[in-house]
Amino acid sequence: MIEELLKNLTPARAVLGFIGFCILASYIRGVQIERRIRRLGSHAPILKTYLPLALDFIYKASKYAERREELKFWRENVQSAPLPNGEMAATVEINGYSGFRGIFTVDPENIKAVLTGQFADYGKGYRFHREWKDFLGDSIFATDGELWSASRHLIRPMFARDRIVDTENFEKHIHKLIPYLEGNNNKPGKGNVVDVGALFFRYTLDAATDYLLGQSVDSLDDPKVVFAESFQYVLHRQSELFRAGPVSPLLFRKEFHHNLKKMDDFMQPFIDEVLTMSTEELDKKLSKKDTFLHALARFTKDPKVIRDQLVAILLAGRDTTAATLAFCLFELSRNPTVVSRLRTEIIDRLGNSRKPSYSDLKEMKFLTAVLNETMRLYPVVPFNVRHSLKDTTLPRGGGPDGRSPIGVPNDTRIFYSTMNMQRRRELYDPPPPPPGTPGSKEKRAVPYFDPLLWIPERWVSGWQPKPWHFIPFNGGPRICLGQQFAMLEMGYTVTRILQHFCEIEAVGAPPVGQDPPFKFDVTLSPQDELNMIFKKADV
Ligand code: HEM
Ligand SMILES: *[C@@H]1O[C@H](CO)[C@@H](O)[C@H](O)[C@H]1NC(C)=O
Ligand SMILES: *[C@@H]1O[C@H](CO)[C@@H](O)[C@H](O)[C@H]1NC(C)=O
Repeated sequence: MIEELLKNLTPARAVLGFIGFCILASYIRGVQIERRIRRLGSHAPILKTYLPLALDFIYKASKYAERREELKFWRENVQSAPLPNGEMAATVEINGYSGFRGIFTVDPENIKAVLTGQFADYGKGYRFHREWKDFLGDSIFATDGELWSASRHLIRPMFARDRIVDTENFEKHIHKLIPYLEGNNNKPGKGNVVDVGALFFRYTLDAATDYLLGQSVDSLDDPKVVFAESFQYVLHRQSELFRAGPVSPLLFRKEFHHNLKKMDDFMQPFIDEVLTMSTEELDKKLSKKDTFLHALARFTKDPKVIRDQLVAILLAGRDTTAATLAFCLFELSRNPTVVSRLRTEIIDRLGNSRKPSYSDLKEMKFLTAVLNETMRLYPVVPFNVRHSLKDTTLPRGGGPDGRSPIGVPNDTRIFYSTMNMQRRRELYDPPPPPPGTPGSKEKRAVPYFDPLLWIPERWVSGWQPKPWHFIPFNGGPRICLGQQFAMLEMGYTVTRILQHFCEIEAVGAPPVGQDPPFKFDVTLSPQDELNMIFKKADV
């Protein structure tokens, strides 16, 4: 029987047979997976895709990404799927009946479950680790379980309150930043117009390298810093590779590795230097100028561990605060009334020159409101991903009304978008009825503010986001370790700038309510220049 089959086997038949076998195998696998899903819960609405592995969906996503419209991609594809009962879904899936199932959610209940309630069931996963290994290694961002927990223990002491309250580091670099904002040393032909986006990236890189390595790269003195350029390239390429999903192994990586090497070459001498120091020498540093690098070297002598943690903290510490500051100044430049209210708070407390202390910054409520509001509309980690590490569930999104748990077998990907969630109108109180209709005269405890607009006043008018509706720093056991540090750095910087300048005028900004063009490379940042003119205060 087998012999006869082999005798009649032409290449064409062999190919057909193989395809048939694959279809059958994937069908059987689909049935098995479906059984596992059903045992655990149900499906969210399944987006219709036409090619295997949902390649058409991935292609469509990459087309939106080319136009920098990831936000819109979610709105139009993910958040527009109807539930069987006709309501819009907040959680959907692709490849519903295969091992490549992916779940997308903007539901705070599900995000909360992944990040805290069912923390042990979800992690970054081995696939994320593999895809980001060359760049992030075994650092805190790319690991789970024991490895992650060890990293977290290693890094946490660096953010202890008594370490972060030292603001001299920021002060030093602000002194270099201010003359640029005044319009000096700027690009030729631009008069006193400054692009704050580029400047903040240089400023936070300088402050971060100073703080972490004990020596600043001083990119404010000279923007052509090899490290900065390579870092930028690596980030950009890494997000392209990530987005390509199953196609990723086919993409070129030569330039990527070349730039990674340039980054590593830059950091190596610093690492070599601390590794030659004895324990006593390292301890002596503790009393003088201790850096993150020295603290790391006190815990480990493994250059790879040190390298990985350094890259992670550089990534976390530079782009996040730079982009938030850039968006903040961008909004301030189009909202002069906010500038004057914020400036009043600052000057009333500190005058034109006193440096703000840690408690000054904590107590300036409107300053915090301005930063909160910026991170509500422009959270710098707009999209994120987790893997299920075992058979589990998501609490909501399944069944005809989307209220039943979703079955989530081991090794399923969950994508969530903080940015889309924080902009969902459904999560805010509705506007009052128009004048003349019933209810329009009712007094509200909290005034209505459009959730899609940048309005810091909402934070000081009695409104508060519900738990898990505002999570720019994530939440749960993996919440951002640098949260306090970041708030301090950003608050300090904004305060110093507004002590020096009394007005900020936007140049060529889109009208209020319209987003500036975005760039989504691992973290969110402005795509174009953010031009403005700073008017010096009379002192
Ligand atoms: C506006 C500023 C910042 C925002 C919005 C922000 C946001 C976040 C978010 C969303 C995560 C979770 C990532 C994930 O688990 O998938 C995170 C993690 C982290 N952030 Fe931040 N971050 C900011 C600034 C900083 C700064 C300045 C540092 C350090 C210098 C820092 C250090 C970290 C670290 C070490 C983690 C990893 C925590 C873990 O996995 O256990 N962040 N941050
Ligand atoms: C800013 O957001 C944090 C985190 O949600 C909150 O605890 C704080 O009260 C907010 N403060 C202001 C003034 O908006
Ligand atoms: C989940 O899947 C991963 C990868 O396939 C495997 O290594 C792990 O043992 C599985 N875990 C459980 C609890 O089944």
